[in-house]
Amino acid sequence: MSEAFHIGLGNDDPQIRQRSKSDSVSFWDDQAKRLSWFEPWTKTLDWNPPFAKWFEGGLINASYNALDVHQNNRKEKPAIIWEAESGESKILTYHDLWVEVQKFSNVLKSLGVVKGDRVTIYLPMVPELPISMLACSRIGATHTVVFSGFSASSLRERIDDSKSKIVITSDGGYRRGKIVKLKPIVDEAIENFDFVKNVIVLERTKQEIDLNPKDKLWNELMQNASDQCDAEKLDSTHPLFILYTSGTTGKPKGVLHGTGGYLTHIHSTFGWAFDIKDSDVFFCTADIGWVTGHSYVVYGPLLHGATEIIYEGAPDYPNPSRMWDLIQKYKATIFYTTPTALRMFMKFGDELPNSFDLSTIRLLGTVGEPINPEVWRWYFKTIGKEKCPIIDTWWQTETGGMMISALPGIETIPLKPGSGTRPIPGVKLSVVDEQGNDVPANTKGYLIIQNPWPGMLQTLWRDDEKYKTAYWSKFESTYYSGDFAKIDEDGYFWLLGRADDVLKVAGHRIGTAELESCIVSHEDIAESAVCGIPDEVKGEVIIAFAVLNENCKKDSSTLEKELLEKIRNDIGPIATPQQIYFVSKLPKTRSGKIMRRLLKAIANNETIGDVSTLEDGAAVTEVQTAFQEIQKSIKGNNS
Ligand code: WTA
Repeated sequence: MSEAFHIGLGNDDPQIRQRSKSDSVSFWDDQAKRLSWFEPWTKTLDWNPPFAKWFEGGLINASYNALDVHQNNRKEKPAIIWEAESGESKILTYHDLWVEVQKFSNVLKSLGVVKGDRVTIYLPMVPELPISMLACSRIGATHTVVFSGFSASSLRERIDDSKSKIVITSDGGYRRGKIVKLKPIVDEAIENFDFVKNVIVLERTKQEIDLNPKDKLWNELMQNASDQCDAEKLDSTHPLFILYTSGTTGKPKGVLHGTGGYLTHIHSTFGWAFDIKDSDVFFCTADIGWVTGHSYVVYGPLLHGATEIIYEGAPDYPNPSRMWDLIQKYKATIFYTTPTALRMFMKFGDELPNSFDLSTIRLLGTVGEPINPEVWRWYFKTIGKEKCPIIDTWWQTETGGMMISALPGIETIPLKPGSGTRPIPGVKLSVVDEQGNDVPANTKGYLIIQNPWPGMLQTLWRDDEKYKTAYWSKFESTYYSGDFAKIDEDGYFWLLGRADDVLKVAGHRIGTAELESCIVSHEDIAESAVCGIPDEVKGEVIIAFAVLNENCKKDSSTLEKELLEKIRNDIGPIATPQQIYFVSKLPKTRSGKIMRRLLKAIANNETIGDVSTLEDGAAVTEVQTAFQEIQKSIKGNNS
């Protein structure tokens, strides 16, 4: 029997789970009533598989629910406590934030942004990032935030796909004490894009920038802006945001989320999972450029009128105690981070966290990748002092919000290190075999979602067909998550990593196809395959294989440098392989498909299994030898 931890917060409300069981649609109908609507909906769910419309006929606004609703009771309450690497800090109350958002909404309007337009936001973790998002949602523009670590060509691809009218950026941001320039990246990304009408530039680092005719300075625009802008009454299904994420094929996919359903899901899960109280100080370390930042830095906490810490910079800079220092300084009560960050903190030992006062912490969370049980136990003991529940939350960009998690805000159940526990109320998840049949307890299978849920993506931006094939074609009328999982004898879910060609490196989602096509676009490369191998801190790291063109005369170290440079420029530093290995061929099936399964198996030191469909057995041996050499060299580097 596995160990279990009974840590409750004494808020048990068995009614919620009970009610969700009888009728999930009317259950979600009840949850949606907790938000402020301008007009009630006429139909809770219109399900035309695989397209769901939640709360049809209802009129709502995200920015109104995040700000206006708090102006009576929480006007002077801090909404955002922002701190940068340098120690520079700022507090914005709910009133301050409301004023700034209204002003910026008027700025966007003055530049011609109207309901339905898209606005790309490429900013570091500064308060102007949530302000920009909330201003967009206030006037009905669809925001599309691009993580500020992405390269010019990644940004260009996203701006082009969304056809954004405006790009919001800054001169730069700070990372590990250095200035990272952003404006030149935007200039390169929008070259010859006539549809981009203006670039709004925030002067964050106060360095010299070249101003082009399209550029407008944030401060100058804000100076004359009126601070009154009523929130638009938007259809519940109005597109709130597009967030690009990596999939198994081709370019990143524009995951499109609506308003009423998404907000209902985020409001409910934020309350249930984090047990949020008015006195809490919430601290989520995710960058707003990823979905966790959208749902649980921007919308979740603000919908609840919570106080939260937003930190700009690297979590271990200027020293590995940075997070503990922030928790102590601002008396954080809830801490939500990634297993990668925890593995990194754990390596520095207990002395650092033990030398800070972390006694205010009452609840801990993790997200983004599987958490190793030993890391879970360390988190529980060293950070939570064995008194705080840990929520291990499983979800995806596509699900909008949490789908599997312990929910200390409504129920106490024993926690098992490494398991996310159970699905949230009102959703139906299963683990199935290749045919779509439920697998027996403790058997590995595919994690699927059977019913529509409020936070689910509406579609992929302007690509309904891809939406259908990517998520709804493997199993009939069922959402395929792309993850492996098992359910144990107590009904607890255990996530077992991706079942498809998506990698999770330090919690970041990277598509192998995207990376491979970047590598083969180098003139000297004929073919490429990439896969992940386990890594002690990052969960997994990328290993790339490349087959050279016959006439290539370059030595491998020159070529490796060129390729690494290319990957950083085309995608961004997060996609950098740990090692590139040059081979003369790749293992393929008779029909010519690269056997990634084989690469992965070799990489993970697993048995190879059936290779009868392999075209050329020699390639297996070659890749296997290649891997042994790589592993040796990695070990060599670590020692
Ligand atoms: C993985 C992040 C194990 C999973 C919110 C999923 C997890 C992908 C967990 C989505 C978890 C997320 N345990 N694996 N608690 N949470 N994942 O879109 O593979 O960046 O499919 O969303 O992260 O990544 P995404």
